[in-house]
Amino acid sequence: MNKTPDNNPSRPSLPPPAADAAEAAMEEALGAHGSAADRGARLLKPSGRRGGIPAEPHSPLALDSPPIAHPVFHCKDVNMFYGAKQALKNITLDVAPRQVLAMIGPSGCGKSTFLRCLNRMNDTIPNTRTTGTITLDGQDIFAPEVDVAQLRARIGMVFQKPNPFPKSIFENVAYGPRIHGMTRSRAELDEIVCSSLTRAGLWDEVKDRLNAPGTGLSGGQQQRLCIARTIAVQPEVILMDEPCSALDPVATARVEDLIDELRAQYAIVIVTHSMQQAARVSQRTAYFHLGELIEIGETDRIFTNPRHRLTEDYITGRFG
Ligand SMILES: Nc1ncnc2c1ncn2[C@@H]1O[C@H](COP(=O)(O)OP(=O)(O)O)[C@@H](O)[C@H]1O
Ligand SMILES: [Mg+2]
Repeated sequence: MNKTPDNNPSRPSLPPPAADAAEAAMEEALGAHGSAADRGARLLKPSGRRGGIPAEPHSPLALDSPPIAHPVFHCKDVNMFYGAKQALKNITLDVAPRQVLAMIGPSGCGKSTFLRCLNRMNDTIPNTRTTGTITLDGQDIFAPEVDVAQLRARIGMVFQKPNPFPKSIFENVAYGPRIHGMTRSRAELDEIVCSSLTRAGLWDEVKDRLNAPGTGLSGGQQQRLCIARTIAVQPEVILMDEPCSALDPVATARVEDLIDELRAQYAIVIVTHSMQQAARVSQRTAYFHLGELIEIGETDRIFTNPRHRLTEDYITGRFG
């Protein structure tokens, strides 16, 4: 199953625009960070102990049981620093194929930072450092021979704020397949655009106005357009950072239904501040606290029988 950047004929070589697009998206994502996250981090205090539920960091509860057999991502002892400030501490977790992993935890606990480790987007932030091991399909993503633009093409990313390109609906979806040289004819490109929009549940709403600007759609439609754009390049994994936080409940429900359909094909890692959403869309949940992975396991189990006091406090609303 191991794939190297060189053995995938559908994506021979990636021109600079892919990196530019990733960086533009990155800047967009950075807008989500700021003083609120900092305030959240400062306000949080681990609560006291209570019978039976240990509160030690690096607890074995943070380890999967049973282990994931053929993980898409395998992360071991991942540490990440913004300058001198450590944002992630010894994160060890696996991402399973064809499953949704939800990452929950108080604001500022490192969820977005961890997500950005997975596609090396933190590399675009000056003065950052990541240590530890992350493999994608068994391949070390930090290995010197890895082409970062090519790596990011294998990992789709959907952000908090829908960020369609300032182009037509058609071009938003066609852009990736075109720059990755995935199609030989206009008919093939049309087919990818149509099938991606259909799978994203947007085709019927936009088929008569494919040349209209993507930015003219409603927020929920824009987010589904961004998902269509992501799946058009056939990624192996989709990362989503609070993809519904700017959407109304109806649009949120549509995107959640879509996530549920997409998991038949993709590994999905979703950051969400909504525990209800984590419970609805994910099969496994990871709880982060102050840069540490406190607990990970089957979503049903995490929400009904958390093993760690900090997880319990969070899901019962005692803090966060
Ligand atoms: N670009 C950045 N530069 C410096 N510190 C950052 C940056 N992005 C995030 N941080 C800090 O790293 C910690 C984790 O942030 P983040 O991953 O955004 O948390 P979450 O997504 O869980 O809210 C926070 O203390 C935050 O202030
Ligand atoms: Mg975040």
